Amino acid sequence: FERDVIRNFSIIAHIDHGKSTLADRLLELTGTIERAQKGLNQQVLDKLKVERERGITVKAQTASMVHPFDGRKYLLNLIDTPGHVDFAWEVSRSLAACQGALLLVDATQGVQAQSISVFNVAVERGLKIIPVLNKIDLPAAQPEQIAVQMQAAFGIDPEEVIQISAKTGKGVDAVLRAIIERIPPPTGEATAPLKAFLFDSSYDRYRGVISLVNIREGVLRKGDKIASCYTRKKYEVTELGIMHPEEVPTTSLRPGQVGYIACNMKESSEAHIGDTLHRAGVPVEPMPGFKPAKAMVYAGVYPIDSNDFLKLEESIKRLTLTDRSVEVTRESSTALGQGCRLGFLGTLHMDVFRQRLEDEYDANVIITAPTVPYKVVYHDRVETVSNPTEFPDVTDSTNRVVEVQEPIVKASIIVPQEYLGEMMDLCFSHRAEDLDHRYLDSSGSSGRTILTCNLPLTEIVTDFFDQLKSRSSGFASFDYEDAGYQPSKLVKMTFLLNNKPVDALALIVHRSAEQAVGRAWVKKLHKIIPRQMFEVPIQAAVGRRIIARETLSAYRADVTAGLYGGHHERKLKHLNNQKESKKRMKRVGTVDLPQEAFYDMLKTG
Ligand code: GTP
Repeated sequence: FERDVIRNFSIIAHIDHGKSTLADRLLELTGTIERAQKGLNQQVLDKLKVERERGITVKAQTASMVHPFDGRKYLLNLIDTPGHVDFAWEVSRSLAACQGALLLVDATQGVQAQSISVFNVAVERGLKIIPVLNKIDLPAAQPEQIAVQMQAAFGIDPEEVIQISAKTGKGVDAVLRAIIERIPPPTGEATAPLKAFLFDSSYDRYRGVISLVNIREGVLRKGDKIASCYTRKKYEVTELGIMHPEEVPTTSLRPGQVGYIACNMKESSEAHIGDTLHRAGVPVEPMPGFKPAKAMVYAGVYPIDSNDFLKLEESIKRLTLTDRSVEVTRESSTALGQGCRLGFLGTLHMDVFRQRLEDEYDANVIITAPTVPYKVVYHDRVETVSNPTEFPDVTDSTNRVVEVQEPIVKASIIVPQEYLGEMMDLCFSHRAEDLDHRYLDSSGSSGRTILTCNLPLTEIVTDFFDQLKSRSSGFASFDYEDAGYQPSKLVKMTFLLNNKPVDALALIVHRSAEQAVGRAWVKKLHKIIPRQMFEVPIQAAVGRRIIARETLSAYRADVTAGLYGGHHERKLKHLNNQKESKKRMKRVGTVDLPQEAFYDMLKTG
């Protein structure tokens, strides 16, 4: 295939707008799926099933199709992308291999927050956008109204919008034609020195690392000696080919093509996403790579039973093999023992991982409240702190903290007009700034409005999304993108039991909320912590200042008191029971806390 008959594209859409269904139709219409054997076909479906169970496409899948048009055979490379900005890094790296994108919008749902965020990434990359309205077979479809929304949101000419039903296949041939006619072919010369862009990788037990590459210039053949611009390591290509949709070996990959290569690469860590591969001995200028995945939400994970730590660490490691964007380090806490600190790309990423871990672990883990990375500016240096226990006491001037900065996101919420007021309240109660809104279409109170504002990331990592859904009766969609750091008045709040701080409970809070947060937590602790043999003060403190206090009154834990002299055996049994439960107590200072108390506190945090 010469480069002028190659088209590299991807489908971008909000979740559930029909991306997988359209991909299936395209593969069928071009004969790609039927041509594959039945067994392989099943595999394609299985892959989709795993993703469906997780409710989101996490790992990009790529497939090549051949389609005759105007007497020529075209090679169409579909590069799949995950549909959420938590995975902006994956979206962006997949789009780097494309010249165009199908922007798919559900004709019953209209433009949603993620339609906009993925559209922005595609436009930044300079891609040709083909607008497609899906699900026009449904009676609730409003193609005209949604086309108007697309014009307002994306500046798209309604004439260009292709109306389809990915389910019935109606209009899908027009999509194929548009891919060929509207998307430009890739650039790059076959005679130039080899330049291959590595945009994804996976691990195969027998062949080692399999990388997905996009050939920018030159030709890559089996047996070629190649080298990495990033690591400078050399390899020999042992196998290469295209994804059709499973691996189909070919003899070469030419400019503009997308395919897989196996070389003697043993460790996943050698395949750097965004790396440029070149012919050994013929160095080239590397293509601008990508920012490495940057963790933005952190949480500690501890086993309920401290003896299970190694087992827990093992499962975490196994899970991160399939998701290398999760950052893992060990940490320990006096209250919770040995555990791991995990870093995630965003809130959705954290939820997906937490779900997988809990499934594997029957929820026998304690996950601490999520925190974001703060920048602490000292007079002579800047430190990034993502663990509240390491956060300095900014009220103590001997610590010489100049200021604290927190990560900010630009949030977009799309909602029917009647919920606009409610959504504004929600944003303001989460420290929103620069709030703005505009109408996407003007069909009365059900017309869509887009609300944008800047929010501190920390404000959306806990219950923001749940509140957004419940306060809009499920109609609001929400997405956000990174908007840098901003100085903020943040302090560390510690909790003391019997005058001893409990490290696992430390929080970073905004000054304006310290009273409310302190009081609420102290009340909660008072409810959860069992009474002890002596009186226990429960306090919330910022620096040396006590913000809130409750007192747990003393209680004599005489379990036999209620048994009137009774049976000796019965008495013994009770004493033993008490011993049993003592074992699962965590001693914090002089206070015994059942593990479950931590679980309850953090779960409802
Ligand atoms: P994610 O992978 O979660 O991002 O979803 P997706 O965008 O891949 O959506 P998917 O293809 O899984 O479709 C979501 C739902 O919409 C499924 O239940 C599909 O059967 C349905 N669907 C997709 N296209 C059409 C269509 O044209 N008409 C109708 N009636 N239903 C459709």
